[in-house]
Amino acid sequence: MPLLEGLRVIHSKIHGYGVVTTRPFSAGETICFGDGILYQADAEFDDTYALILPGEDSGHGDPVFWDLACQTRWMNHSCDPNSEVCSKWDHNEHTMRAWWVALRDIPVGEEITYDYAFVAEVAEACYCGASTCRGLIVDEDPANLANLPEHLRALLRLPGTAPRAAS
Ligand SMILES: C[S@@+](CC[C@H](N)C(=O)[O-])C[C@H]1O[C@@H](n2cnc3c(N)ncnc32)[C@H](O)[C@@H]1O
Ligand SMILES: [Zn+2]
Repeated sequence: MPLLEGLRVIHSKIHGYGVVTTRPFSAGETICFGDGILYQADAEFDDTYALILPGEDSGHGDPVFWDLACQTRWMNHSCDPNSEVCSKWDHNEHTMRAWWVALRDIPVGEEITYDYAFVAEVAEACYCGASTCRGLIVDEDPANLANLPEHLRALLRLPGTAPRAAS
């Protein structure tokens, strides 16, 4: 698989490995297209590195998982991301397509991030470092937050909510 031009995998300040730019990207520019392997929703596999395409978009009626198999696998989440991931079902090739678009101008050396917007049941503590960090990697839709597991509720920080107490 060819390396994605303009991107490099590094040790991230956010978590584990991450991806930084080796050239600038402009707001609205497509940063890259990903490559991945398809799994059905009921398949047994490690979904840590997978995007999910909802059932209504998948062409199957069921959601599908797309296990990222290129440098995009290492892109971290931020609550103030500099990119967004777009995805769609490719009806001709019967697979998923995903690509990342810059939300603002991104200089050389900045880590590429996007908002994972996890469903509450799989939310994780967030260490993105943004001033607007929600404390959790989670979709902030109130209907989703209503399903947050009890042990994660104390980590949630949203505008208008009290800051987390120091431990
Ligand atoms: C697709 S992987 C990203 C690559 C990851 N850094 C690694 O080295 O394996 C997704 C996982 O990375 C971690 N991660 C990504 N962004 C994070 C963040 N902002 N805060 C904490 N952990 C994060 C979470 O454990 C998440 O499930
Ligand atoms: Zn965050």
